Amino acid sequence: MAQANPVYPVIWHNDHVRLIDQTRLPNEYGSAEIRHSEEMAVAIETMIVRGAPAIGVAAAYGVYLGAGEIETGDRGEFLAQLEKVAERLRATRPTAVNLFWAIDQMMKVAYHTEGSVDKIRTLLLETARTINADDIRTCQQIGDHGLSILPSAPAKLRILTHCNAGALATAGYGTALGVVRSAWTAERLERVYADETRPRLQGAKLTAWECVQEGIPVTVITDNMAAHCMKLGMIDLVVVGADRIAANGDAANKIGTYSLSLVAKAHNIPFYVAAPLSTIDFAIADGSQIPIEERNPSEVYQIGDTTLCPAGAEFYNPAFDVTPAELITAIITEHGAIAPGELSDRLKAKSAA
Ligand code: MRU
Repeated sequence: MAQANPVYPVIWHNDHVRLIDQTRLPNEYGSAEIRHSEEMAVAIETMIVRGAPAIGVAAAYGVYLGAGEIETGDRGEFLAQLEKVAERLRATRPTAVNLFWAIDQMMKVAYHTEGSVDKIRTLLLETARTINADDIRTCQQIGDHGLSILPSAPAKLRILTHCNAGALATAGYGTALGVVRSAWTAERLERVYADETRPRLQGAKLTAWECVQEGIPVTVITDNMAAHCMKLGMIDLVVVGADRIAANGDAANKIGTYSLSLVAKAHNIPFYVAAPLSTIDFAIADGSQIPIEERNPSEVYQIGDTTLCPAGAEFYNPAFDVTPAELITAIITEHGAIAPGELSDRLKAKSAA
């Protein structure tokens, strides 16, 4: 089986961060060099880097870059200014909790480190690099656990996914596409069906690109074809990522995930959510409390430079929706596959550790 070079969308390179510029894929593979915290905030807002775990890793480096821009040697003043950097990064995208989780990890290190400002800076870089490396390992564990719970028949599965929860959306390997990768390596995969994922087309552009890179057979369908494909028996299971999972197992993911879960239920097709522990927000009881990002309406009425809709129409562009826990077969984490209703009992202590 041909092995392509692994995709790492966020890497620390000498003295700066190198991001794969995801707004240019699949037509151009290019990178953006990020040297300042404000550049990182803009890269997250404009989705040069996107996907819940990837924006967490990027924001962690953003905090470190910000620490390097603060000119005082006074610890109290340094921490006050670093809080402002953290605030700016927290304001970039509201839904994916990994962003807030990673910034909180960085700020804890800053507050708990005794000694000079230089020592804090050194530990901040180490922490960001650890968050980066841990995420790749975590995704591989998610892939392994996903593989172990795949239905035993048919021998080769047809898996439908939505948006991009791949290497590009994480530090590498992916969550939902991590399960797909593990299934492919174990020769349990026949084909991936990738929902195109309007309005920004992460499925058509990014998931399809990742699969093609690795020779994984992929068929792109428009979002409104999923029910038809299921009815024709073309799909064995669905696996998607998540941006924030509430304590009761309700899961926010890219807009369109909820309707996919409903049609999967109607066709008796297992529906899995693959996500790391850092995506679970035990502070909120259920999905109604998950903040849903609304993006620019131009994403709905335009594709590229082409305007699709008549002047005078109005537009609504929520970027995420919430799939209720009862529609999720299991949540695949680095600690194994867990029924949504059992998340709190099984994982809360680990998350606090
Ligand atoms: O708006 P995006 O592209 O950042 O949304 C990404 C998703 O919804 C992913 O499915 C989710 O972040 C999981 S990524 C492992």
